[in-house]
Amino acid sequence: MKKILITGGKGLVGRNAGEILSDDFEVFSFGKDELDITDRENVIKIFNEIKPDIVLHSGALTDVDLCEENPEKAYLVNSFGTQNVSVASQNIKAYLIYLSTDFIFDGKKNSPYSEYDIPNPLSIYGKSKLLGEYFVSHLSDKFLIIRTSRIFGKGGRNFASKIPFLMKEKEKIFLTEDIINSPTYVVDLVNTIKFLIKKEVFGILNFSNKGFCSWFDYGKKIKEFLGLETEIIPVKFKDFKEKKAQRPPFSALNTELIESLGFKIPDWEYSLKVFLEEIWK
Ligand SMILES: NC(=O)c1ccc[n+]([C@@H]2O[C@H](COP(=O)([O-])OP(=O)(O)OC[C@H]3O[C@@H](n4cnc5c(N)ncnc54)[C@H](OP(=O)(O)O)[C@@H]3O)[C@@H](O)[C@H]2O)c1
Repeated sequence: MKKILITGGKGLVGRNAGEILSDDFEVFSFGKDELDITDRENVIKIFNEIKPDIVLHSGALTDVDLCEENPEKAYLVNSFGTQNVSVASQNIKAYLIYLSTDFIFDGKKNSPYSEYDIPNPLSIYGKSKLLGEYFVSHLSDKFLIIRTSRIFGKGGRNFASKIPFLMKEKEKIFLTEDIINSPTYVVDLVNTIKFLIKKEVFGILNFSNKGFCSWFDYGKKIKEFLGLETEIIPVKFKDFKEKKAQRPPFSALNTELIESLGFKIPDWEYSLKVFLEEIWK
């Protein structure tokens, strides 16, 4: 059985990957406490000890507003932490999979972004993740960068897992109508990663569920699926004064390239329904 090492093992992707991939791989999953990717010596030591065939690098500082307030920390973890993971993976010739983001784009294109579009991040988070991409692609001979967006699922801090309970409590909620991207169900993402590992795909690939929506549309779908009463009021992003980082206004991902490999991707509405049925019993 091949060995896979997961960074950020206690995060949304890390937890789900640890569970789903354990049927096919020997999984070594590390949370931040056990493997801090900013500690280069320890990263190299652990990688040399385990000698994984594959590294799934999901550890990151993902709070976009926190990154904006703490650029040093954002670059330390997302860029230089990724540099450490790249060096350690290359030392042992492991196949490195790095999760990147639609936030590397400025969102001004007005149609879904393909792998060939030029990045132009607006936020520190986006910039730090893009620098992470450069480290991966320059330091590793066997890498796959998967650009994904708005991940939802069990076991993490995400809108789809929190909002149904908030909607149940509140008479009205406010959601932005001017930030649009593609939701991604973590189970679909991890199954895709499994498929790509088996096919030994290298390079850069987009993956999200099919379609796109604003947070307002997304909330409306959740309300509709669960038969909730709450009123959803559309607002503009600029109304949320506490949100420090600029988001791309339209950063849906074009998934034609991965579909051309024979992978069928469910629509976001379908996968959202599957997920809600699981958490709303
Ligand atoms: N979530 C999304 O919508 C989304 C969209 C596009 C791309 N991505 C990318 O997908 C990957 C996985 O995201 P996710 O949704 O699973 O995020 P997440 O739930 O925030 O998980 C990331 C994990 O990394 C850990 N981490 C933070 N600093 C670390 C360090 N120095 N060393 C090792 N681990 C560290 C975090 O620990 P703490 O929580 O204790 O800090 C957290 O458990 C990330 O690379 C992210 O950039 C996510």
